[in-house]
Amino acid sequence: ADKKVIFSGIQPTGKPTLGNYLGAIKHWTSMQNEYDSIFCVVDMHAITVQQDPAELMKNTFNLLALYIACRLDPDKSTLFVQSHVPAHAELTWVLNTISYVGELSRMHQFKGKSQKHKENINMALMDYPVLMASDILLYKTNLVPVGQDQKQHIEICRNLAERFNSRYGQTFVVPEVYINKLGAKIYSLANPTEKMSKSDENEFAFVSMFDEPELIVKKFKRAVTDSGSEIAASKDKPGITNLLNIYSLFTNRTVKESEKHFAGAGYGKFKVEVADTVVEALKPIQAEQKRIAGDVAYMIKVLKEGAQKASAAAAKTLEEVYKKIGF
Ligand code: ADP
Ligand code: NA
Repeated sequence: ADKKVIFSGIQPTGKPTLGNYLGAIKHWTSMQNEYDSIFCVVDMHAITVQQDPAELMKNTFNLLALYIACRLDPDKSTLFVQSHVPAHAELTWVLNTISYVGELSRMHQFKGKSQKHKENINMALMDYPVLMASDILLYKTNLVPVGQDQKQHIEICRNLAERFNSRYGQTFVVPEVYINKLGAKIYSLANPTEKMSKSDENEFAFVSMFDEPELIVKKFKRAVTDSGSEIAASKDKPGITNLLNIYSLFTNRTVKESEKHFAGAGYGKFKVEVADTVVEALKPIQAEQKRIAGDVAYMIKVLKEGAQKASAAAAKTLEEVYKKIGF
């Protein structure tokens, strides 16, 4: 039987975080053998918030190199940059005609970002979920592996697929969200009830995949915890719980095992060991990322081949859509 299709992406805004790695990339890597896998660097999503053009280009390149450094294999998976495949924008226009202003204005992410970027509540910011639906639907995606924060966006994608299918006849696969419980939500180190995000203004709120060892240690040392001393996961200890979770994910232990490991240790010692664990885990990834990003000829080849593979698949769906709507 044909393999099921998975699609996912990350925005090249700032530096990718431990949240992007533990909630997304790490799972993609283990899924890529089992699924027909498509992973994108979503630069068109990134520009819904104002970006510096030179930074955006650099971030796009570095993020793609990170995908490969984390063992996403360009020979097994389709790795590409969103703006290199114009079908994403073209399908977005069509899906816009069946998307309601009301439903889009109610999205959590839109409401959050409108609060944060009051001076730039542009049309594309509100249209973000429609572009994301296009990303997913273009490839007849069955499963979308994402973190918890993206659940609502997959829901609207499903609604748009069903709406189009019922109006124009069976065209799109209605995708399922795939949220792996492990790493589904990594929290901010500064405010452990909010998700860790690379677009946080406070640099000490997140650890980036590209941070130097000293900075990683500094950030974990400064992580907000509570005034207690027990290293145990619980609702009223979100800071400690988050650190235990990060530690467990990097050491492939359960949270219970990690609690046992740290029994009797103080917060100070605990934080340093979590930091050291993350530093050691990131070292080989960082070295590999640098090596790959430095191999410009290789990167250009990956970019070109990825865009070709994605374009071929996307063109088929777009042609089908255009026929259905009378283009
Ligand atoms: P960010 O919110 O950091 O800007 P993106 O919006 O580009 O990241 O999200 C890319 C992927 O990473 C999505 O699948 C998202 O759910 C996942 N992700 C982002 N932050 C976290 C987090 N803190 N914990 C778990 N997954 C996350
Ligand atoms: Na996000």
